[in-house]
Amino acid sequence: MKKNLTRRKFLKAAGIAGAAVAMPLSLVEFSWGRNSQENFTLAYVSDSHLTHIKGGQFVRNFDMGLKKAVTEVNFMRPKPDFVVFGGDLAQLGKKAEIDHGLEIMSRLRYPVKWVVGEHDYYLDLGQYWSEKVSKLHYSFDHKGVHFVVLNSILTYDNWINRWKSPAERMHQMARLDNPQGSPFMVRDRQIEWMKKDLSGLSKDTPIVVMSHSPLYKIFKPWNFWTEDAEKVQAVLKPFSKVTVLHGHVHQILYNQIGNISFQAMMSTAWPWPYPVSYAQAGNAVPKLTVFMNRADPHSERDATGWSIINLDNGRVINDFKLWENTNRTLRYDDKLGYPVDTKYQNPADRIPPQEHY
Ligand SMILES: [Fe+2]
Ligand SMILES: [Fe+2]
Repeated sequence: MKKNLTRRKFLKAAGIAGAAVAMPLSLVEFSWGRNSQENFTLAYVSDSHLTHIKGGQFVRNFDMGLKKAVTEVNFMRPKPDFVVFGGDLAQLGKKAEIDHGLEIMSRLRYPVKWVVGEHDYYLDLGQYWSEKVSKLHYSFDHKGVHFVVLNSILTYDNWINRWKSPAERMHQMARLDNPQGSPFMVRDRQIEWMKKDLSGLSKDTPIVVMSHSPLYKIFKPWNFWTEDAEKVQAVLKPFSKVTVLHGHVHQILYNQIGNISFQAMMSTAWPWPYPVSYAQAGNAVPKLTVFMNRADPHSERDATGWSIINLDNGRVINDFKLWENTNRTLRYDDKLGYPVDTKYQNPADRIPPQEHY
């Protein structure tokens, strides 16, 4: 490479021109404005669903999504302090899928914080993940922010024990629209751990909770749902600046419940439709969320993209850079006390959502 090549030219030369707006990942920037804390960025990649076919073969499209995200993170400026993987690295929890995912992710030049998803977990109940990838729940501090990583995809013991084989259990949990499914849970033991973990913090410490499922209730038939979410929210209630970042729903969703802002991250594999546009579930999506308008439902990449999140004095400004869709910015409104879309929040300004039925 010639020394005087600009970054843009270099990207072009490297064959990834235009990748910056196309990558299904999120660049998260924490900025402290007038406060003394140090600014930093992190990248968030989620829901890659790497799918083993046989031997060394995997579904190529899903591999490509994750590989592109990894490439883009490595080119990112400013450099992220670390990368979060938001869960569902594998499709059916197989060792081959997890190993394959680790190999692709090992090309990242930054450390990774891992969140476990149900597709990683239900074959062996997290055993291989714990051995090879990460703890299932933990916390850490970074430049003034307290991060809590939860395993939010646990469920009832009697559901776990009702299946003839681990593979059958995994297949049942992997289905989106499954009347035999079971809702996600954090469960009391982990909630108690979280209570202890937060107990020494001052109430104005910015807290970022990272879970796979949303830590509130959206649409139970698809398991966009955490059964004991209210218990988790109660533990977070005393804190003034709380943001939950989650994966699993493969689309932009945002909400505010009491003191807690929620932001969904996108998938590198495929988008889900909104429940109302597919299952005609009218009141499932949070009122606050302005839907992404997906004009062509066959364009599977158009609900993926990346975003820059700026945490100004502990509050999120989220700049979504969507592939093949309109860019969006969500900003926490101090007067209203919840995040709003800077362009489309007013119903009169919205693009009507695509209907699939
Ligand atoms: Fe997923
Ligand atoms: Fe998931």
